[in-house]
Order: sequence, then C-alpha cells, then structure tokens
Amino acid sequence: MSNYHIKHLEEYYQVYRKSIRNPEVFWEEIAEEHFLWRKRWDKVLSWDFSKPEVKWFEGAQLNITENCIDRHLATRGDKTAIIFEPNDPKEASQHITYGQLYEKVNQFANVLKSKGVRKGDRVCIYLPMIPELAISVLACARIGAIHSVVFAGFSSTALATRINDCDCKMVITSDGSYRGSKTIDLKGIVDEALNDCPGVESVLVAKRINSDINMKDGRDYWLQPLLDAASKELKAEVMNAEDPLFILYTSGSTGKPKGMVHSTAGYMVYTAYTFKNVFQYREEDVYWCTADIGWITGHSYIVYGPLANGATTVMFEGVPSYPDFSRFWQIVEKHKVNQFYTAPTAIRALAKEGVGHIEKSDLSSLKVLGTVGEPINEEAWHWYDDNIGKKKSPIVDTWWQTETGGIMISPIPFATPTKPTYATLPFPGIQPALMDENGNEINGNSVEGRLCVKFPWPSMARTIWGNHQRYKDTYFSAFENKYFTGDGALRDEVGYYRITGRVDDVIIVSGHNLGTAPIEDAINEHPAVAESAIVGFPHDIKGNALYGYVILRETGESRKHENLRKEINQIITEQVGPIAKLDKIQFVPGLPKTRSGKIMRRILRKIASKDTSNLGDTSTLLNPEVVQEIMDKAL
Ligand code: WT7
Repeated sequence: MSNYHIKHLEEYYQVYRKSIRNPEVFWEEIAEEHFLWRKRWDKVLSWDFSKPEVKWFEGAQLNITENCIDRHLATRGDKTAIIFEPNDPKEASQHITYGQLYEKVNQFANVLKSKGVRKGDRVCIYLPMIPELAISVLACARIGAIHSVVFAGFSSTALATRINDCDCKMVITSDGSYRGSKTIDLKGIVDEALNDCPGVESVLVAKRINSDINMKDGRDYWLQPLLDAASKELKAEVMNAEDPLFILYTSGSTGKPKGMVHSTAGYMVYTAYTFKNVFQYREEDVYWCTADIGWITGHSYIVYGPLANGATTVMFEGVPSYPDFSRFWQIVEKHKVNQFYTAPTAIRALAKEGVGHIEKSDLSSLKVLGTVGEPINEEAWHWYDDNIGKKKSPIVDTWWQTETGGIMISPIPFATPTKPTYATLPFPGIQPALMDENGNEINGNSVEGRLCVKFPWPSMARTIWGNHQRYKDTYFSAFENKYFTGDGALRDEVGYYRITGRVDDVIIVSGHNLGTAPIEDAINEHPAVAESAIVGFPHDIKGNALYGYVILRETGESRKHENLRKEINQIITEQVGPIAKLDKIQFVPGLPKTRSGKIMRRILRKIASKDTSNLGDTSTLLNPEVVQEIMDKAL
C-alpha cells in the first residue's frame, strides 16, 4: 500500500498508526517511492533529544532542485510551475513552465558561481515577491549555497543583523518594490544595511521599478545582463542529506533573532508529503498560497513543497487591498485557483470589507481553503467557510512553525471532519504531547497543556546557526526529551487539537511572530526612555496588537507625549520594521516586578486587555502600588 496520498479518514488512522509504530519503515517507503536520490541512505533516522541531534536519511545524496525541477521535465516540461501575478492587475501575469524554470534556475546558479559563491556559502535574499525570488532560492539550492531569505518588509538594521549573523557573502535584491499604490526603495535599505556588513562582497540587483538607484562600483551588479550571458545548463551539486539547505530567522522571546537551520533531505520529503495531502493537490490544479517567500510558509508551501509535487504554484506580488478588496477573489477567478492558503489576519481584514467584493468574482474553482499563522477565531472561520468556500470547501487550519519546517497538525481535507478553530489531528509521523506545569505528560482526552513533540520528524530544524546551545535551551530544556513549541493547546474529547496561543513572550501580530525583547531594546534607545515592557492585546483584525508601557527618565518630560509616541514608533520602524509598531503607548511611573526583578507581564497583559477583574496574587510584587496607578490611566 502506498501511504503517499491519504483519501479518507480510516486510511488516515491506518497510516498514522503505522507511522508511529514504525517511523523508520514509514518514512523510508515514502522517501523511496517519491523522490530522486543520487545515492541511497545508510540509516533512516538517528536521534538524541538530549544533545539535541537529529539525522534523517544519513548517507543519502541528492539535490532538491533535481526533485523540484529536473525530474518533471520529461512529463511536465510544458506545465506551468509558477504563475506570477503582479501588484498591478493591469500588468500581465507570467506563466513559467518547468522547462523554463530549469533554464532560469541554471542561469541564475551560473551567475552565483561566476561571482564566487560556492557550496556552503551563505547568500542573503532580500527581494519582493517577483519570480527572481523563487528562482534565486532554487539557484542557491542548485549549487549548494545556503539561502537566507529576509522578508523585504524588514528594516535595514534588521537586515544587517541577519546578514552578519550568518556571514552572507552576497546579497540579492531589487531596485525597489511595489506594494499597492506605493513603491519601496529596497536598494536604499540594502545600501544602508551594508554600511555595517563588511563581509558582503557582491550585490545582485534585479530591475523591478526602474528607479534611479546608486550602484557601487565593484560591488553591485545588475542581474539581467549577467543572466543573459549565462549558460542554461548546470550540473546540480550533489548534496548530503543533512547538508543545510537554508537559514531562516525567527524571533525569540529574548535577544537577537534565531537563524533556524533546515537540512536538505528530511525537509524535502516532509514538505512534499504534507503539501500533497493537506491540500489534496491533483495534477491539473492551480494552488495559491498568499504568504511571502520571506516566511517559512512561502519556503515550504510556495516553493519547495509544491514544486516537489510538480504543481502549479501562484506567486502574488501585491496586497489584498489594492486596487480594492476584491483583488484576491479576482486572482482566484483569473487563474482558476483550486487551493487557497492564507492567514487569519487577512481573512479578518477581508471580512470587515463586506461580501460586496466577493460577489463580483467566480470562486467556483476553489476546492480547499487553508489558514495558518495564528489561532483563527470562530467568526473568521465561519466567514471563510460561508463566503469563500460556500460551505463546500473544507478549511484546513494548519498549525506549524518556522522551526518545524512543515505542517504538523491539520485536517486532511475530505478525510478529517473539520471543527471551527481546531487544527484537529497530527499529521502522520507527528507525536504531540501535552505537558503540565510539573513536566509530566497529560494523557487522555479533554485536557489542556503545553504543546510538545516527543519524536523527531524529517523537517525539524537541526540547530540555530552558530548557537547550538541556544537551540537546546530554547526547545529541548523545558521538558526532558521533548521538543517544546512555545504554544499552549487543548485536546478535545475526540483527540482534536486546538492551539490556544503562545505561552512565552512571543506575540503574534497579523500572523508575524514578534519577540518582545528586540522591540523593547529599540524603545529603550530613545533618550527619554528609562525602561519599557510590551505585551499583546486582542485586536479585531491583527489578532493581537502591541501595547507598550514606558517609563520616562524624567517625569517632568517637557515634550508632548504624542511626539514621544511618534518617535518611539519611528525607532521601532527603523530597528525592527513597521510591523512591530505599537498601537498603544502608556507612560507609567513603574512596572510591576517580582522580587527577583522580573517584569510581571501577566498583569500587564490583563490591563492591556481590559480584563482586570482578577489580577491574581499581586502581594509578592516588589511594588504592588504601581498596579493601581497603571490601571487608573490605562488606554
Ligand atoms: C507560531 C509559529 C507556520 C507558518 C507561519 C508562522 C502560531 C501558526 C497556527 C495555527 C494557531 C498558529 C503558533 C506557532 N501558529 N499556525 N494554525 N493555529 N496558531 O510561523 O512565525 O514560526 O510562528 O505561529 O503560535 O508557534 P512562525
């Protein structure tokens, strides 16, 4: 029996049981039947969560781009691999076939080589959602260079931190980007970042908005002439199964961003297998994920997962609101999209605009709807189901993380009965555990706890770039012999999981994972600020918004508070990015602290959420009186 394509619930349970009983045999069969290997593995899995060390398909050799491109050429050479839908609907969309993708990736890879990029080198990609983004990612993988894509909404400071953390020797960017009616000066941001990045030797610049930019002699090169001159053939580098494929940064609750390192073979097998099943992709389907390739969702489910299955994947450059809120639905109609994957924050923003924007478009092609990034509230779930899926397209609420590489808990459409706000059942191979405060696993159903995973899966991140100790401390120290996700979850009476949200200091704003520490560090750089603490509070569209409590150095601060608020948000924009701006800033005389000096965020969260009926025990605080003062002036 092939376990690759699960079609009904009973089959899911059978496959799931097998994947738990004998994980090695299970994954070996999938790896063997569905991928192209240059050399077979010696050992399917070795692992030790106490180190932690995990290896999948050790000894195997492959190149992921041969799996995503070359092997499709014989049967799907003229099939569209990527549909590029530009920001402006008046600009023509592009269809790139697998045959063309092969040539474009090889040309790009040859350009990388000609600029001295070698296997194992790190390349930073800072591009808008244009074809060059997907192509450059694949070009890196083709020559074994490790790509580090940085979302092109990040500031120059955030970009510089990421470039330096993993010593990128090259940056790939564009002259600028379109975002709705605006243009963004990407190259200017890169130039600023590179003032602090001595290790970068070259910058490749794609032309997108035809702006007049600075090109630094001997460092910056226009991409197109180099591509035109490059060969369309290139032998893919033979990679070991565990060679790093990419680094992707994610926020932590403390300190600088964590460069999660993903490996080649396990990541490929898992993203391909989950893509096939979670979206029930069929050969003629058109699949669209609205995420940016700057996030893990785009890596796994715009590029690698779909292409490994020979799918047609849509890349959209723009935003849901431009030229108006019917844009998404017009794209669905235009390209006859069958699977549509987006985030709760987008769903809520679209719902707010009413159904008028939907009625103009034919959505009858849709078969499966997906959501990811944060818990979806019941109202948004029903709006999506009623108005977009017309109650005929199952909603897959997919729970996973940058660290997990692929979807971990999700319904399998047409097999798993869905339940609003529930990610439902673990994917084959995934062994979740709910843990109590004392570190014990909570068995049985109708329980709630901290969500862990107790057995390795192929696409888990292997380390944090340059800091294995931090990897261990963050994910493998809270609970012995388990991977800790940082999320809370409940398991209902039938064993369905519902993710209840973060239990650490990570706040998810509009689906973006933000750590409190880097934002507080930015605020504290303002000369008038003595100390600050930020927390999340519920927001209709963003899910959570940020509330900042700020202590000023001088209480008699003469400047107007409004100006200070603007300046604080300006610093945050520069240091972290506009997504981290605070919705509310309250100037406070002090922050509630424990006797060991730790800020009691629990109390601040309650005040920000206007949920102050039960603040819990505040008597152990160093300064209990400050709580009332903060409450009296809460925003
Ligand atoms: C965190 C990971 C995975 C790609 C996008 C985010 C939250 C993610 C769900 C969901 C409830 C979710 C979790 C998780 N999250 N998907 N379906 N239901 N919460 O990746 O930036 O690494 O964030 O997003 O809190 O830990 P990320």
